[in-house]
Amino acid sequence: MAANKTMLFLPGDGIGPEAMREVRRVIGWFDRRRAVRFDIKEGLVGGASIDAKGTPLTDETMADAMSVDAVLFGAVGGPKWDTGSFDMKPERAILRLRKEMGLYANLRPATVFPELAEASTLKPEIIAGLDIMILRELTGGVYFGEPRGIETLPDGTKRAVDTQVYTTPEIERIARVAFELARKRRNKVCSVEKANVMHTGVLWRETVTALHARSYRDVELVHMYADNCAMQLVRNPKQFDVIVTDNLFGDMLSDLASMLTGSLGMLPSASLGDADATGRRKALYEPIHGSAPDIAGKDLANPLATMLSFAMLLRYSFDLPDDAALIENAARDVLSKGIRTADIMQAGCTKVSTTGMGDAVLAALERLGA
Ligand code: IPM
Ligand code: MG
Repeated sequence: MAANKTMLFLPGDGIGPEAMREVRRVIGWFDRRRAVRFDIKEGLVGGASIDAKGTPLTDETMADAMSVDAVLFGAVGGPKWDTGSFDMKPERAILRLRKEMGLYANLRPATVFPELAEASTLKPEIIAGLDIMILRELTGGVYFGEPRGIETLPDGTKRAVDTQVYTTPEIERIARVAFELARKRRNKVCSVEKANVMHTGVLWRETVTALHARSYRDVELVHMYADNCAMQLVRNPKQFDVIVTDNLFGDMLSDLASMLTGSLGMLPSASLGDADATGRRKALYEPIHGSAPDIAGKDLANPLATMLSFAMLLRYSFDLPDDAALIENAARDVLSKGIRTADIMQAGCTKVSTTGMGDAVLAALERLGA
């Protein structure tokens, strides 16, 4: 039997725990049928951690995240914790995990499941077959740049500062990931910044261009300003393969791209660091959707994005592409049978609960994985 793989589960707040519960059932299925065993630790994060421990992420949980092979993250946040100071916001937890684990490469696929093409607000012909990868730089830029803060001026008014900052190595390492990803896809990279108004944009463009000339001439490279990219994503999204961009533009463009697919509840993501001497990469996987407090605890949430995040974990951290594909195919199979949670419900389909979707995926795994 292969060595145990270790994972830390951080269900978090809102619909996070419900979605994670369904992933546990999928893992149970794998445990019963596969040689690989998973050792799972669970921890508190976000509002759940604030309530129990007085902080969005304890040092112990941070240490656990550093020691496991992969982290599966649910979602954090909710109105209950909106009043706290900046450092007490549930979101601090995910920012600290990203920074301290060095997860600079955030892969956010926007893929349209053919069965859901009608669910998009865009015309089906614009998005049918869409398959783009937004690669977002995740540990730099305005999210972490110093100086930052709010000060009170002598006249009593206030002044707030955030700093957008990037170095050549930071840009180079994310661009490298973009070119490598593109080589395994349709070989196209679109690098996105605002070199027309920002110095970081100028350096970004120069650095990506130089790396391309040095090592990746076989990959097609285009540059685009971020505002134009937003427009092009809605106008003709299929022109893109891999989009590489900074932390803030990536945050916005990935939300935009996710909604092209009409199904936020379906999209997973992976955040990866550099490989260490043993070849192991720190990694965290999470659905793109948030904690959806309005439907939390009602067995209404769509657990597929968290399940598909687990599939990404199997592919990128555990090198188990067949098992990953099995989960993805099970999800597709369930959709093709017209089984839907409320968020993706369509006329003529069967509406199921979170648990019902879990049941359907397990049944599909039985069928497909025999
Ligand atoms: C995301 C989220 C986070 C971000 C928040 C929760 C801090 O919007 O992962 O896209 O801004 O990065
Ligand atoms: Mg976001």
